[in-house]
Amino acid sequence: MVNLTDRVAIVTGGGQGIGAATAQRLATAGAAVAVIDLVEANAKSVAAQIAEAGGAAVAVACDVSQEDQVAAAVERTVAELGPVGVLVNNAGVLRDNLVFKMSLDDWTTVIDTHLRGTFLFTRAAQASMVKQRWGRIVNLSSVAALGNRGQTNYSAAKAGLQGMTKTHAIELGQFNITVNAVAPGFVETPMIRQTAARQGLDFEAYKEAVAERNPMRRVAQPIDIANAIALLASEDAGFINGQVIYVAGGPRA
Ligand SMILES: NC(=O)c1ccc[n+]([C@@H]2O[C@H](COP(=O)([O-])OP(=O)(O)OC[C@H]3O[C@@H](n4cnc5c(N)ncnc54)[C@H](O)[C@@H]3O)[C@@H](O)[C@H]2O)c1
Repeated sequence: MVNLTDRVAIVTGGGQGIGAATAQRLATAGAAVAVIDLVEANAKSVAAQIAEAGGAAVAVACDVSQEDQVAAAVERTVAELGPVGVLVNNAGVLRDNLVFKMSLDDWTTVIDTHLRGTFLFTRAAQASMVKQRWGRIVNLSSVAALGNRGQTNYSAAKAGLQGMTKTHAIELGQFNITVNAVAPGFVETPMIRQTAARQGLDFEAYKEAVAERNPMRRVAQPIDIANAIALLASEDAGFINGQVIYVAGGPRA
């Protein structure tokens, strides 16, 4: 059982999808959670659900790619909940297009949200962890890190996150801080629904086709990913460091 009693966790992009499930999962394990999101109303609603279930949470509006907002979000978390022990760098966006049609804006938005956001949050939160000589950082990569049509920006960001994960694992391990990544395949979230809609696909048919190809004969739900993140955040995962775990129902999604 994962026990995070007396730990403080930050989950970026916690307002919906995998982030919301992760915030709730970590709260169930006993952590006080800062739910960080660009969309404040969603962050507030997840924090309220955690509070209603008897947990502790704050909602913080923040764009993970903005240095001043990240610093303020971490400061507020420490002031209201205590020193940060767990950081889940989950905030993400898609701006898919074939390379010849991809705008520089779409490249920059995706790279900044995933890579700059993870860099800024990790740099800001690690100070708390170094002081405590305890920390768990989990970054969201993706099977797209291996390459995916229409995802120049996203696959580069998700592969980049694997390199950042391993580098931070090497730098921070000496302070009893582990840094790992989870790399999901298809997870049923608003992000995937948007992708299907953009490609003109019927969501249920698309999902069924993906499920048929998966060894588990189903697609992932946000809780499947949240459970893996919670395991990596647990005390028992204390010697797992610098790893990328594909949480995709099989060796290839
Ligand atoms: N859904 C999948 O199939 C899948 C697969 C592999 C990896 N992932 C990764 O998992 C993570 C979560 O994905 P999801 O499917 O839950 O997505 P989602 O779109 O449902 O949720 C993402 C959340 O991040 C927030 N966000 C976006 N940009 C932000 C910013 N600049 N600052 C703060 N918050 C911001 C959004 O407001 C949203 O609440 C992402 O990193 C995504 O790339 C998802």
